[in-house]
Amino acid sequence: MAEYTIKVRRYQPESGEAAYWEEFGVELDPSLSVLDGLLQAKDRDDGSLAVRCSCRAAICGSCGMKINGQSGLGCQTQIGEAQERADKVASAVGGAAEGNVIVIEPMGNMPVIKDLVTDMESTHWTKIRRVTPWLLPHGEAPEREYIVEPESMVDITQSMACIQCGACVSSCLSMEADPLFIGPAALAKAYRFVGDPRDAETSERLTDLAHDPHGIYDCTHCFSCVDACPKGVAPMDQIMRLRRKAGENGIEDPNSGHSHEMAFVNIIEKKGTLDESLLLQESFAPGVLGKLMPTKRALKEMIGSLPTAIRGIKTGKMRSLPKLIPGVHHKLPGGAQDEVKAIYKHAEEHNEEFNLYIKGEEGDPEAAVEERLEPDNADYLPTGADKEASNG
Ligand code: SF4
Ligand code: SF4
Ligand code: FES
Repeated sequence: MAEYTIKVRRYQPESGEAAYWEEFGVELDPSLSVLDGLLQAKDRDDGSLAVRCSCRAAICGSCGMKINGQSGLGCQTQIGEAQERADKVASAVGGAAEGNVIVIEPMGNMPVIKDLVTDMESTHWTKIRRVTPWLLPHGEAPEREYIVEPESMVDITQSMACIQCGACVSSCLSMEADPLFIGPAALAKAYRFVGDPRDAETSERLTDLAHDPHGIYDCTHCFSCVDACPKGVAPMDQIMRLRRKAGENGIEDPNSGHSHEMAFVNIIEKKGTLDESLLLQESFAPGVLGKLMPTKRALKEMIGSLPTAIRGIKTGKMRSLPKLIPGVHHKLPGGAQDEVKAIYKHAEEHNEEFNLYIKGEEGDPEAAVEERLEPDNADYLPTGADKEASNG
């Protein structure tokens, strides 16, 4: 048994007062969870402390919360580990090395109903419904179930592991800036159906998500959702898969997200590193310095992006003006440029996903199946709830 102090952000709407912090002393074995600590405080000190939970085993997705600023599940976080993290964070900023309080808050990016209970409907479930989370097959329904080869489902097992806890939504930085962003959980769910061989509306789904200004190109690759997800869904990876598939389907998005992404890929292939002087032109009017003429839209986009580019130079985010002049960009030393080209060639020849965030090699489904079936990767296996959802 060890003693801990948990500091909980309370909000009691019936009191009419603003949110406040309250500390509780709890006594638990370090291997028990933060949720156990909260339930002990509720039991011993204040029965009005509101926390949502059910399974207490990281299955139902009810107990999403922020612990020491990190979104996750209360029932999956051991209180001993939470204490270690609280001490580490405090000592990193010059505080005491031990005995710090464990800070517990409701999830972010959603309205708080009471204490640690948030309104999942307005920010999570509404967005999940936005992506049409059911199969849309065409043609006559088979007499019995749709039969698919296990290999063809491998690509989506990771997204099927989602338990809808909302931890990724809570931690999403893009959603903080743009509450209309469809968000990591809903986009991971979208990939679950885009990648399903039984679904017949892949192109429509991708077009919808690419054309939405708050869709797949609204993600800023901050990795927060990957860190927060308790089930290894890695929502950002699923968003990158959606983007790749949209590109493969030749979907032109009005946000120029795909062409901007391709600009990075093409410039680095040619120059080895990012030549920012070419970024605007390659994003909106590839080939303008060669034979092709820019379209009216490309010219409009380039002119419209100039204030952003100037702001980037002023704040130091982009390189200084002289270095932005085409031709001034330095080439990589020695044979490094050839090595970059060799990486591209290898990726093309081996059909690898050329994306930093997506691991794996396409075209080897058997190896992928074996890897996903390893006991260590059991989180990727579909749960009962996923199977139900996959049936429609
Ligand atoms: S990677 Fe994208 S979806 Fe994930 S938290 Fe960051 S901005 Fe949100
Ligand atoms: S993707 Fe992960 S963090 Fe997001 S809702 Fe699903 S299980 Fe929770
Ligand atoms: S109580 Fe079910 S996931 Fe935590």
